[in-house]
Amino acid sequence: MKNIVILISGRGSNMQAIVEAKLPGARIAAVISNRPDAAGLAWAAERGIAAVALDHKAYASREDFDAALAAAIDAHSPDLVVLAGFMRILTAGFTRRYEGRMLNIHPSLLPAFPGLHTHERALEMGCKLAGCTVHFVTAELDHGPIVAQGAVNVLDDDTPDSLAARVLKLEHRLYPEAVRRFAAGEIAIVNGKVASGPAAASCLLAPEPLSHA
Ligand code: GRF
Repeated sequence: MKNIVILISGRGSNMQAIVEAKLPGARIAAVISNRPDAAGLAWAAERGIAAVALDHKAYASREDFDAALAAAIDAHSPDLVVLAGFMRILTAGFTRRYEGRMLNIHPSLLPAFPGLHTHERALEMGCKLAGCTVHFVTAELDHGPIVAQGAVNVLDDDTPDSLAARVLKLEHRLYPEAVRRFAAGEIAIVNGKVASGPAAASCLLAPEPLSHA
């Protein structure tokens, strides 16, 4: 059984999707939030999952917070740390500690649009595809070996919100599957890259109309 610790900062809908997937061979050992009022924390606690609030504002430096966070994570002997809307820049020491066993989901087709406001930026650039990426976490923000990607068509009348909503639905399918593959030992990093494996497992395309007729 693989122990999984999920880090959130807000609503935690990706965390919920992973919990509800009831992945074989995986146990959600804890959900940790840097924001005590994160809605996802209450959701996890209601389901009997260890829900830990670790307020970053209580720490003098990023290093101090990351050290406390690592201690809270390690108390649950994790095989995998899953960042699911965890809105903190992590120190290089922290990312090194969980190298090869920490995943993130980002709402763009990386390496396009790391950082914030991904859907606004995709629309501004006139992208025809948008999507999400599950990747291993490295010291560089929204960077690291890509595990899986999902793509949606960008529609002519899309707004950042409508695009975000469609991409989020895909995130909820892509992330549990990526975590399942990790827990099953199906993911290997070779020369800095993750082998694609069965194409269906690493790539999701959402079928949808090209315009609202
Ligand atoms: C998602 O869009 C995810 O890709 C990004 O932050 C958002 C988190 O949403 N990293 P939720 O908290 O999982 O609902």
